[in-house]
Amino acid sequence: EWTPDSFVETTVAALKEKVGNDKVVLGLSGGVDSTVAAVLLNKAIGENLYCIFVNNGLLRKDEFESVLKQYEGMGLNVKGVDAADRFLKELAGESDPEGKRKIIGRVFIEVFDDESHLLEDVKFLAQGTIYPDVIESVSATGGPSATIKSHHNVGGLPDFMKLKVVEPLRMIFKDEVRRVGKSMGIDAELLGRHPFPGPGLGIRILGDITAEKVRMLQEVDAIFINGLKKWGLYNDVWQAGAMLLPVNSVGVMGDERTYEKCVALRAVESVDGMTADWVDLPYKFLQETSNKIINNVKGVNRVVYDISSKPPATIEWE
Ligand code: XMP
Repeated sequence: EWTPDSFVETTVAALKEKVGNDKVVLGLSGGVDSTVAAVLLNKAIGENLYCIFVNNGLLRKDEFESVLKQYEGMGLNVKGVDAADRFLKELAGESDPEGKRKIIGRVFIEVFDDESHLLEDVKFLAQGTIYPDVIESVSATGGPSATIKSHHNVGGLPDFMKLKVVEPLRMIFKDEVRRVGKSMGIDAELLGRHPFPGPGLGIRILGDITAEKVRMLQEVDAIFINGLKKWGLYNDVWQAGAMLLPVNSVGVMGDERTYEKCVALRAVESVDGMTADWVDLPYKFLQETSNKIINNVKGVNRVVYDISSKPPATIEWE
């Protein structure tokens, strides 16, 4: 019978056997899968696991600093690489959704490759690939781990992708990953985090990306997500976030007319992200959240709530 404890025991033994005394590099994303993979490898090989956590400048507010601290607190051998400026510079002027994804994927690979070159004698690349990713990469629709896969053939293979691959979670599902994480003592809050796309806020800022738009959306998103937690709604929602729309609308403040940005809030229920329904959040919550956003985030004067299901709408707007 499958139990998290027996999975940990056999996987740690298998990792020791496979990796021996060699070094392994792993990219942490702040998400559940890469974290659980890292903790398993850390149990098996300790300091020979080199984790890299890249700030692409498109993470949630304060996430890079707080998640990095959390990783360090878990005893992981992790290096935080703040590449926010590099990503923003490369993204400047790009407003096509797939164009933005390509740039973010390419720059991530460049940064990761630079970092893995600083390590000597690395033999393995570990990834937090889970079973649905394995299936999805076969059907090639571009799930979380597709960022790396779909950029394979752009200008030759980066060196780190020539490494031997270790994927300790490739045979298990998300709920099992969470149970494994729990049995290894990983913080429940971290394990319960909503999924977050690899390109991050980059695909929630419709149109081109600027530092100012990122800052604005980070503030909006933080108010929404913290509100969901405060109201005890966070765990009833599969995924939530805010979109910064490329439209200005007229508003009024005092005697002045304003002409400022509109944001859309989205919260969905889902099992696997393939289909989704919008969540019937309480009006009082939406009212409080909208007021907080408009009163606190400079440049935003209108908030709307997305009531579209997938299909035919998607979860993200880009
Ligand atoms: P859609 O918008 O296609 O999203 O309904 C389904 C799920 O996939 C996530 N998503 C992505 N994840 N890279 C990722 O790693 C991407 O380019 C990407 N696009 C969408 C989305 O957040 C949702 O969980």
